[in-house]
Amino acid sequence: MLRSTILGVGSYVPSRVVTNDDLARMMTTSDEWIFQRSGIKERRFIEHSGIGASDLAVPASKAAVEHAGLKMEDIDAVVFATLSPDYEFPGPGCLLNHKLGLNGKPAIDVRNQCTGFLYGLSVADAWVRTELFKHVLVVGAEVHSTALEFNDRGRDVAVLFGDGAGAVVVGRAKDDEHGLRSMCLHADGAGAKDLWIEAPASAYDPRITHAMIDEGRHYPKMIGKNVFRWAIEKMPEVAIEAVQKAGLTMRDIDLLVPHQANMRINQMVAMRLELPDEKVVHNIEKFGNTTAATIPMALDRAYKDGRVKPDNNILFAAFGAGYTWAGAVLRV
Ligand SMILES: CC(C)(COP(=O)(O)OP(=O)(O)OC[C@H]1O[C@@H](n2cnc3c(N)ncnc32)[C@H](O)[C@@H]1OP(=O)(O)O)[C@@H](O)C(=O)NCCC(=O)NCCS
Repeated sequence: MLRSTILGVGSYVPSRVVTNDDLARMMTTSDEWIFQRSGIKERRFIEHSGIGASDLAVPASKAAVEHAGLKMEDIDAVVFATLSPDYEFPGPGCLLNHKLGLNGKPAIDVRNQCTGFLYGLSVADAWVRTELFKHVLVVGAEVHSTALEFNDRGRDVAVLFGDGAGAVVVGRAKDDEHGLRSMCLHADGAGAKDLWIEAPASAYDPRITHAMIDEGRHYPKMIGKNVFRWAIEKMPEVAIEAVQKAGLTMRDIDLLVPHQANMRINQMVAMRLELPDEKVVHNIEKFGNTTAATIPMALDRAYKDGRVKPDNNILFAAFGAGYTWAGAVLRV
């Protein structure tokens, strides 16, 4: 069976820069607290209400298609990963399909949070390998800023997240040696309520009440220490699994592009994998956690910085709410 590969990558962030000091004016926090625990200095927020995840995805998708040397009409299908869809339904895949002029082409939504991009990539990989589609656009895009609680009750979560989008075009690899060499996916719903937004919920009738809003149950809630513990265990585990499945050793890896949730998590992951810092891509300092967008955004940065060279082996690893975690190896 033919392998698939990433033919092009692009990203986009809104222009509004929000620093840690800006947040410290809205809640009891400090640049020092945020930076020490997460590595974040600033993040981007949408400029005004009315901009959804699918809007951020448009420029990222166009850049990815251009980088692939293709035209938009060459795209056969859209896979959209997000935890912050524009609306409850329909999903942002359909919205993006229309905004890109891909009317009539299939579009699906992936709801796997910080691991969403890799789950989406696995769908595109399967579609290309089975020759169902030739070129698949995989997008990760998030607007978090409209769901954060900018006060002391929500400060543990509010300081970590940012808005942004990343996209790749997946198509056929040139030969069996190149392209996606492994893909490993996992989930464990036992930790579902360690990081979640409770309402509105189909599990409740009505789905949301004024009282629930007053209690802030429509904002994300996180047991940070649990998330941290799971992440530093599962990310190295799945990274090793992906490298072994690719028939490689960690010494063969030229670049690790991890999900950007927390600098401390990524430093511990790199240490456990014995990968030196120069092989690890970080951009959390400038963008915070953009969930499904982090990996394509970081990969785009790595390409633009000239860090991706022909025949490089790139390792992806992600962990997020669900819990979900995934790893993949790509030879470019
Ligand atoms: C969230 C996280 C940074 C908190 O760090 P921590 O080391 O567990 O926090 P600490 O125990 O040092 O501090 C907690 C204290 O800081 C306070 N605090 C929480 N958010 C704060 C903020 N933004 N500013 C200042 N203080 C804050 C808490 O109220 C608590 O105070 P208390 O001790 O008086 O009760 C850390 O748990 C983490 O990174 N978890 C993973 C989060 C993540 O990656 N999520 C996304 C996954 S995809």
